[in-house]
Amino acid sequence: MPNDDTDALKLIGLAGLKAWPRSLCRKQGGAGERGDDGAAAVSVPVLKERPMTPVGQARTGWISPVYEACRPVKVELPALLKNRCIAADASIPEVESFRVLRNLVAQYLEQQGCASRTLMVTSALPREGKTTTAVNLALTLARDLSQTALLVDCDFMQQQVHSMLCYQSDVGLLDYLLYGTPFQEIAVWPGIERLTVISGGKPTHCCREILSSRGMREVLTEMRERYRERSLVLDAPPVLSCADTMALARLVDGIVVVVREGKTARGDVVKAVEMLPKEKVIGIVLNKVPKHA
Ligand SMILES: Nc1ncnc2c1ncn2[C@@H]1O[C@H](COP(=O)(O)OP(=O)(O)OP(=O)(O)O)[C@@H](O)[C@H]1O
Ligand SMILES: [Mg+2]
Repeated sequence: MPNDDTDALKLIGLAGLKAWPRSLCRKQGGAGERGDDGAAAVSVPVLKERPMTPVGQARTGWISPVYEACRPVKVELPALLKNRCIAADASIPEVESFRVLRNLVAQYLEQQGCASRTLMVTSALPREGKTTTAVNLALTLARDLSQTALLVDCDFMQQQVHSMLCYQSDVGLLDYLLYGTPFQEIAVWPGIERLTVISGGKPTHCCREILSSRGMREVLTEMRERYRERSLVLDAPPVLSCADTMALARLVDGIVVVVREGKTARGDVVKAVEMLPKEKVIGIVLNKVPKHA
């Protein structure tokens, strides 16, 4: 797992994650609208935080996922934390950011009247924190007793989800789509209640048009419909460096755009958000924000 920083765990504390900063989120605003700081604001829907009904609350009850349909692997908490999968430990204060994100996502899907919950996590450019956000969001969704989460690695050029979750895997969604590898062989249960993961295989640059293929559409439908109370979290490639990301965007219910604070140019964020279907952009997660900011 590549590591930009000197001290993984300390930096989780220092470089937290903020959801939907006011300066980047404007309701109905055009790309040229000005933010609080006078800079151009990105046109994405504003999401007001409010006490919300957790997804599926009306249908409370324990969901028992069928783990025998998956390959079980064992992941260790210290290794997960070292890789910044902080939501594996609910007692870490920064996990609250992911709970807020989970609630905002649920609120958005509820407002949109989405029956299914397929979410895509992307960014304008590489290395902004997509995989970290997707993994922690999936871990946080899986903590909600009323649903299960399926985390799917759709960034075929990276295939980093399984290494971030500290397990080996030679097969992933690409193997299912290209070679017909059975679902039970690609789906993994990492020993975390209500979470299933699909990630693995060799990273490939020959993934053109796979994300937009009929097979991809069908498998997403199948994953969505198999269990009604399941959220799908797709770790997607960056918008500006992979044309297929837009094809994937057409198949999901909501999109979370991760922006690395202080690194990504505002123009790139604006361009990426404008390329995505506007009505599906749930909001922007500003990542690696210094704690004092
Ligand atoms: N909030 C954060 N605090 C500290 N480090 C972080 C944070 N978010 C991500 N990182 C680190 O930044 C690096 C890049 O993160 P990540 O792999 O999630 O980005 P990515 O957008 O998925 O990259 P790629 O485009 O290569 O797939 C990783 O080393 C990760 O541990
Ligand atoms: Mg990644």
